[in-house]
Amino acid sequence: MERLIDIHCHIIPGVDDGVATLEEALALIKSEEEGGTVAFIATPHFIDRGDYRRLSDVAERVQDLSQEVAKVGLKSKIYPGGEIYPTMAIFEALDAGRSLTLAGKGKHMLVDLPMGSLPNDFDSILYEIQVRGIVPILAHPERCAYFQDDPNRLVPYLERNISCQVNARSLSGRYGTRANTVALEILKRHWAHFLSSDCHKARREPVLGVAKASLKGVLDSEYLEILTRASAEAVIRGDVLPKLPKAVQSVQKQGWLSRVLRK
Ligand SMILES: [Fe+2]
Repeated sequence: MERLIDIHCHIIPGVDDGVATLEEALALIKSEEEGGTVAFIATPHFIDRGDYRRLSDVAERVQDLSQEVAKVGLKSKIYPGGEIYPTMAIFEALDAGRSLTLAGKGKHMLVDLPMGSLPNDFDSILYEIQVRGIVPILAHPERCAYFQDDPNRLVPYLERNISCQVNARSLSGRYGTRANTVALEILKRHWAHFLSSDCHKARREPVLGVAKASLKGVLDSEYLEILTRASAEAVIRGDVLPKLPKAVQSVQKQGWLSRVLRK
């Protein structure tokens, strides 16, 4: 039996662009449980504009959802977290005592990436996060044009102890060929610590379980365990992330990937 842990999902009802109702949240959790997921870190968006910014009660909402999960006989554990858009508003919120970190442990922050170019001051914001003893985890770099244009641009971040997370549905081609190709490349290079659902809606098939199954034979089982369980367990403990298997340092500039990416 699989024991997968999902560190990126929008399962708190009615707070962002994720599930709208409690029924939908429970349907999503049920479907993911059927694929072997045993725990989730709920990561509603935190953005320096609009209503999301006011979301200050993630922990209470997670408690409420956990009670509902138990009531209907589901088994999943749910932890609080957030998907934090990188602006200076992060530091104002942290200074005001907000917990923006995963599982509320103060050690890891899931940093949202835009689809296009990187936000202003991106590197200094990551640096400031690290100065506070928090490891940034870049969410779905394979969907960001800046990293799609040249996946090697991830290397300087990885070298600075910044981690990354790949979306399960990037592997199904849901976000296009480029995201699919780059996601696989990131995984084959052993650059990511996490494979997560980033699910916003209930689906018929378990997103994370299906993605993991599709990677059997592509990645070795030890790395698959890191991607879907061991790194997440470290986050929940507030611990250091596991060491990744030896990484291939960079994508060959003249290799097949760069030819594909130039098309
Ligand atoms: Fe997300």
